[in-house]
Amino acid sequence: MSDTRPLCLSGKGVTKVFGFGEKKTVAVDHVDFEFHEGELISIVGESGSGKTTISKMLLGLTSVTDGTIYFQGKPLDIRTQKKKKEYWKDIQAIFQDPFSSYNVFHKIDQVLLDCINMRGGKKLSMDKKIEMMTEACSFVNLKYAELTNKYPFELSGGQMQRLMIARIFLLKPKILLADEPTSMIDACSRATILDMLMNLRNEIGMTIIFITHDIGLAYYISDSVYIMEHGKFVESGTADEVILNSKAPYTKRLISDVPKIYEEWDLNTVTFSTES
Ligand SMILES: Nc1ncnc2c1ncn2[C@@H]1O[C@H](COP(=O)(O)OP(=O)(O)O)[C@@H](O)[C@H]1O
Ligand SMILES: [Mg+2]
Repeated sequence: MSDTRPLCLSGKGVTKVFGFGEKKTVAVDHVDFEFHEGELISIVGESGSGKTTISKMLLGLTSVTDGTIYFQGKPLDIRTQKKKKEYWKDIQAIFQDPFSSYNVFHKIDQVLLDCINMRGGKKLSMDKKIEMMTEACSFVNLKYAELTNKYPFELSGGQMQRLMIARIFLLKPKILLADEPTSMIDACSRATILDMLMNLRNEIGMTIIFITHDIGLAYYISDSVYIMEHGKFVESGTADEVILNSKAPYTKRLISDVPKIYEEWDLNTVTFSTES
């Protein structure tokens, strides 16, 4: 790949082994990767291929068994709680299940205020904070006035997903890791959410790592794609390289499972079968 932007996150031989002896599972097996600033990367693989495990290592939520993760070219050092907290200003995640992202005892105002405080806005006036929260809500088509004084569980699934993006708007991390963020919502809201993520990327220039089993979606949204099978990256490159000119049999199989990919996005390459 010839992306000339500075490296944001990279890895050499990154490995995660769970358990010992007969019960040993190599969830992530010596993977190398280079994610650049402002790049949108998809990691694609079937269930059990190791996607969530690699996300957790990137986020510092689980340790690396072997190999090294580099953040901005230096080995990631999050050995102390303080360093971890610093790192989490730069990397944020949105998860499959938005309920798990919120403290159920905190009202929505508090969820958003925490973001402002985390970005060093603790001493701002309440008026300014409300202005920022209103802006963040309107960015995701939510009305701050209607949310204030509510708890996250009083929102619909779609509203909750949008609230997660409003948080990211306030936190402005360098990296956003999204683990199948659209799985809980219908196709229409899904398109809206993706659109919002793209706008946010353009707005604050963040790197987005998108974890999905949907290779069609990955082709549609990504600059680069990493295909993951049994803990290994079996193929990587630009979305066009990997999906229009795939080499690995596993990638070809994933693509053949979604024949609509060509019909929807690249009609020129379709050779229609004459059999019915
Ligand atoms: N905490 C854990 N303890 C033991 N095995 C685990 C643990 N987490 C994940 N695994 C195993 O690691 C493999 C990869 O899992 P995961 O990263 O969740 O895959 P994916 O997100 O692609 O579905 C699976 O075989 C899974 O059973
Ligand atoms: Mg997973």
